[in-house]
Amino acid sequence: MNNENKRIHQSDTLDIREIGTPIDGRAQYSDRRLYFQLHVIENYRNDSAKIIEILNRSCLNSVLYDSLNNPNAIGILFIAENPSDLINESINLIDCSENLSYRSDMTMIGRTYSSGREPDLEEWLIKKPMSNVLNPNFTWAIWYPLRRKPEFYQLEPRERGRILGEHAMLGRSYAEGGFAKDIRLACFGLDTCDNEFVIGLVGSELYPLTRLIQDMRSTEQTTKYIDSLGPFFIGKVRKQFTK
Ligand code: HEM
Repeated sequence: MNNENKRIHQSDTLDIREIGTPIDGRAQYSDRRLYFQLHVIENYRNDSAKIIEILNRSCLNSVLYDSLNNPNAIGILFIAENPSDLINESINLIDCSENLSYRSDMTMIGRTYSSGREPDLEEWLIKKPMSNVLNPNFTWAIWYPLRRKPEFYQLEPRERGRILGEHAMLGRSYAEGGFAKDIRLACFGLDTCDNEFVIGLVGSELYPLTRLIQDMRSTEQTTKYIDSLGPFFIGKVRKQFTK
């Protein structure tokens, strides 16, 4: 039985908490998750020092990236448990200079989520994604949103599992080889273009991240069931701000 069915059969009231794998027969639940939001800003050069000061003073963990493809742009990733903090801190950032030009077409947002198989829910939803983006050895990042084709949701759960299994095996070989870590975010109802997931790939070198994306292209999931990918933001970490 998949998670959605369990929620309906086991309780009269809808339970939308995150679920992990049961421990000693007891279900694991959590109502905590992290929101990640990436802003892309152009014309920042004269205001670099101000931006760094704002990020230093912010209550949120964040990362400042230089953009590989746009020498006139930076990326700022905010991480928050409370989405209201994203609004407040983003306004502070944008208000620090009237010269900044905001690329709303590049904004990405998503939240961590569980699949029901996580042995340590807190680690999966909070600690792991946070420590991956703030790992000082991971100096490169690629962020992009994606949307699945509706046909994927019509597949039997077993078939979906089989297809994602191929994908997961390839992903894990990169993670276990130390080439790339993924930050997997759901953005249903959050993204202005109706994307469904935001993927962050982080690592110490750029090439393996790009090679992983290339290798994913030939998996059944990506060839058959992905409707759209991108835009892509490729960033080199300038500074990580850990609170
Ligand atoms: C249990 C393991 C994993 C699961 C269940 C999983 C699940 C997902 C999901 C739900 C998506 C959104 C797209 C979709 O499903 O249609 C996705 C995309 C993606 N994941 Fe994973 N993932 C796993 C492991 C990994 C790992 C370890 C990596 C890399 C280190 C990775 C890299 C990616 C990439 C690059 C995409 C974007 C698709 C593309 O570019 O073709 N995944 N994954």
